[in-house]
Amino acid sequence: MLVSAKEMLEKAVAGHYAVAQFNINNLEWTKMILLECEELKTPVILGVSQGAAKYMTGYKTVVAMVNEMVDSLGITVPVALHLDHGTYEAAKECIEAGFSSIMFDGSSLPIEENIEKTKELVAICNEKGISLEAEVGGIGGEEDGVVSTGECADPQECKQINDLGVTMLACGIGNIHGKYPANWAGLQLNVLENIKAVTGDTPLVLHGGSGIPDDQIQKAISMGVAKVNVNTELQIKFAEAVRKYIEEGKDLEGKGFDPRKLLAPGCQAIRDEVKDRVNVFGSANKA
Ligand code: 13P
Repeated sequence: MLVSAKEMLEKAVAGHYAVAQFNINNLEWTKMILLECEELKTPVILGVSQGAAKYMTGYKTVVAMVNEMVDSLGITVPVALHLDHGTYEAAKECIEAGFSSIMFDGSSLPIEENIEKTKELVAICNEKGISLEAEVGGIGGEEDGVVSTGECADPQECKQINDLGVTMLACGIGNIHGKYPANWAGLQLNVLENIKAVTGDTPLVLHGGSGIPDDQIQKAISMGVAKVNVNTELQIKFAEAVRKYIEEGKDLEGKGFDPRKLLAPGCQAIRDEVKDRVNVFGSANKA
């Protein structure tokens, strides 16, 4: 059964570790992440962007697939199914479709509108036992065509959104989605400190988790980050492994073209990377 992310994140705040949000793109991603997290005995959040949901033919398909897989694979660790960077409309659709966690990203709206819509969604999610993530301050890079400026969040705006009773809060601290440029300045930990000072025990979310040096991630976790989002890193590792298989001509040997064989190295690479990230975030054996 899918669970809200609230309890796992409260435990993470208290235990000074972070739960990973791994974004899913298809059946293989979902299966490999679930199997590895079960093995590591870690809670996990499966992130689904609007674009990924569309690719998988819709929110209901995703809910059905994840629910059935949790059951058929005998997964016992807590699993939350989370809309990633949803619009107000998408948030409502996912609540209806059976997601157990929602991110409403109102960061590109005027703060008054972000507050108004977040407030409404807090009430709906509370009533249904669904966790809600809100965002303040755009997170740079491009995700599904949504480009934000990457500014650091204003701590006072973070406080305003936090006080609405959101389960978790994403705030820009110099992090960006996708690959980091060679001249990236690093996480702005002083901004994180100022945000933490006014948001109490609310779990903070670090987006753009791919490519940030591990020591910076761990420092951010020690300062109140309790959820780290990872998408690009798994995609890169998957692609590298499948490319190697094809470059070695293995798809031409026997039935090497069978997708179950062709994608197997990529699937293993996903599992290896999940293990590596979970160990860095500190959530193994916390299920
Ligand atoms: P990356 O693709 O940079 O890992 O970011 C993932 C993310 O933040 C999803 O919201």
